Amino acid sequence: MKNTSSTFVAAKQKGEKLAMLTAYDYSTAKIIDNSGIDGILVGDSLGMVCLGYKDTLSVTMEDMIHHTKAVARGTNNALLVSDMPFMSYQTSVYDAIKNAGRLIQEGNAEAVKLEGGASVQEQIKAIVKAQIPVMGHIGLTPQSVNIFGGFKVQGKADEDAKKIIEDAKILEDSGVFSIVLEGIPSKLAEIITNSVSIPTIGIGAGKYCDGQILVYQDMISMFPDFKPKFVKSYADVGDSMASAFKTYIHEVKNSVFPDDEHSFKMNDKVLSKLY
Ligand code: KIV
Repeated sequence: MKNTSSTFVAAKQKGEKLAMLTAYDYSTAKIIDNSGIDGILVGDSLGMVCLGYKDTLSVTMEDMIHHTKAVARGTNNALLVSDMPFMSYQTSVYDAIKNAGRLIQEGNAEAVKLEGGASVQEQIKAIVKAQIPVMGHIGLTPQSVNIFGGFKVQGKADEDAKKIIEDAKILEDSGVFSIVLEGIPSKLAEIITNSVSIPTIGIGAGKYCDGQILVYQDMISMFPDFKPKFVKSYADVGDSMASAFKTYIHEVKNSVFPDDEHSFKMNDKVLSKLY
């Protein structure tokens, strides 16, 4: 079944959980899509897990379009959402529509995601009015890392929690089809999930959300820099890769690889003419 922003909303009405993962390239998108995932996000986390930046702030529109195009070529059934990078929508409503449009037209995304609540409601309304589905993102919004003073859980104090609940309602009223809740207490995520009619997608937000998303490198232990507390490891792909690379190096250095099975043969007659 082809997932769309409408099937996401319908899933909540039917009480069906939604599973999402990030992807940043064609091969991985194909594997994830063929696994039956509901949605793929080309997250600006690509700045950290693919490009090696310390946060997401250096990611550009060109980076996002480049990677979204690649993921789109490997995605058939999942809803393809692309992240709006830092400063691509905060600057003005015009920039927001223009850049959301580029992710759809040039990147072939089917929806965009942007961070924030009340502060970006005009941008969201305008993008939705331009017929582009928008996914909201509140809580620990990584583009605000310098305001938060690090990647810290949000909404622990009552005033902060109330602000996040208010933001969720503003996002729903502004027309988003879904909201990512990142890095907030699970009971706060439950209150939000029960107070909006659109699906909440949690990451570090506990079990009460309508769906979950993880950065794929995190959940298969491929990202060596740090492992957030909320990440469950489903495979040790980093270890498998390191082991394969070490075996390859050993075999090359000891003339084990390539063997005849992995080489091309030549007709003996032709060969004899070469000596
Ligand atoms: O950039 C990203 O990967 C994200 C998810 C963590 C939700 O925004």
